Amino acid sequence: MHAFTYHSPTEIIFGKDTQLQLAQQIRKYGGNRVLLVYGSGSIERSGLLNQLCQTLTDSQISYELFGGAKANPTLEHAREGVKLALKCGADFVIGAGGGSVIDTAKAIAIGAANAPTDIWEFWTREKTPHHALPVGAVLTISAAGSESSDSAVLTNLATGVKRGLGTELNRPRFAIMNPELTMTLPPYQVACGVTDIMMHTMDRYFNPYENELTDAIAEALLRTVIAKGRVAVQNPKDYDSMSELMWAGSLSHNGLTGLGGMKDFAVHQLGHELSAMFDTAHGASLATVWGSWAKAVYQTKPSRFARFARNVWGIAETDDTKAALSGIEKTVAFFRSIGMPASLEENKDIGVQDDVTLHDLAYRCTYHRTRTIGTFQVLGEEEIYQIYKAAN
Ligand code: NZQ
Ligand code: ZN
Repeated sequence: MHAFTYHSPTEIIFGKDTQLQLAQQIRKYGGNRVLLVYGSGSIERSGLLNQLCQTLTDSQISYELFGGAKANPTLEHAREGVKLALKCGADFVIGAGGGSVIDTAKAIAIGAANAPTDIWEFWTREKTPHHALPVGAVLTISAAGSESSDSAVLTNLATGVKRGLGTELNRPRFAIMNPELTMTLPPYQVACGVTDIMMHTMDRYFNPYENELTDAIAEALLRTVIAKGRVAVQNPKDYDSMSELMWAGSLSHNGLTGLGGMKDFAVHQLGHELSAMFDTAHGASLATVWGSWAKAVYQTKPSRFARFARNVWGIAETDDTKAALSGIEKTVAFFRSIGMPASLEENKDIGVQDDVTLHDLAYRCTYHRTRTIGTFQVLGEEEIYQIYKAAN
């Protein structure tokens, strides 16, 4: 086992009607003046926003609303949120929505606590943040795991760069998780969520280490998400499936499913460049490249992919290479079966790209030739280009 520190401090409040506990939770963590961050309207339409405002009013917690966070949230919008947080003297930031909203809330919390430093300086690692306002989450989509993760991802519209910042300051104090709040999701977003949840575990599972307990937890999570994901995409009103996905989404990205290993996360890095350039949904960006990545790297250690195939997909094949390839095929077929694209061509936001664009994607993915990605197999610009090309 590789050495690790495990710290997952977010209090989880799970179940029906738990959103009614919002004010009580804010008080518990010392909040009095709240900035309530939300997205492009889904919580207005569902009535959740009214409900949250009512619980805050009833508990005499003052609040300001900050809506408009877009999927693949922008730095520019988060900066506006920082200004508002400072203006209204917010001492607590709530993100009510999905990863995009919660990440915006996290960015505002760091920006407001470190003003006047511009938040992008933290996201580009020029500076390290040492403070953040406390953040709470009310989750409406099971996907990014931001409700308990240490990460927040922003896109700088001006430069087309998408970057994540990992810091313990990003862990929300609490996450309110009512699966009923996810039942208004369109099937495509459910499928994007299923893919992202799987990928947070798979981007940890495929790494140089093998750890029996951690691997078994990861495999159980993947089997659960595949089985429940199939049902959820057909029927987002299925409480059982939406519940399992919601809990899996948090466990998949709070660190648990990779303990004792090393994060790989190459597929996430490949996907981020696609989202930055084409504004495609995060989950879809991952499905777009996973198959090409897997075929490019499985020979590094076929036994690892064979274990995945046998324990996640129940493949009985005894030859490791054949089992590995069957597992990759099954995974790609699953993504397609839930409506996810398995290539650039199949991705409705992208389509087939010319060679110049594929090279540019690879160049950007290496942060302009300043890094490699991955740990299962370390990938440089040429390998990254070949993966995009195979996914074209
Ligand atoms: O903006 P609204 O109107 O809320 O609509 C959203 C959005 O259009 C909609 N939606 C959310 N809940 C809904 C709903 N529609 C109907 N009913 C509901 N209950 O769904 C769309 C997608 O929402 P978004 O928040 O973008 O989804 P997701 O949770 O997948 O977040 C994606 C973002 O998180 C980042 C991604 O890169 C992307 O920017 N990630 C964040 C991570 C983290 N902080 O730890 C890790 C991930 O790997 C990921 O990178
Ligand atoms: Zn992700």
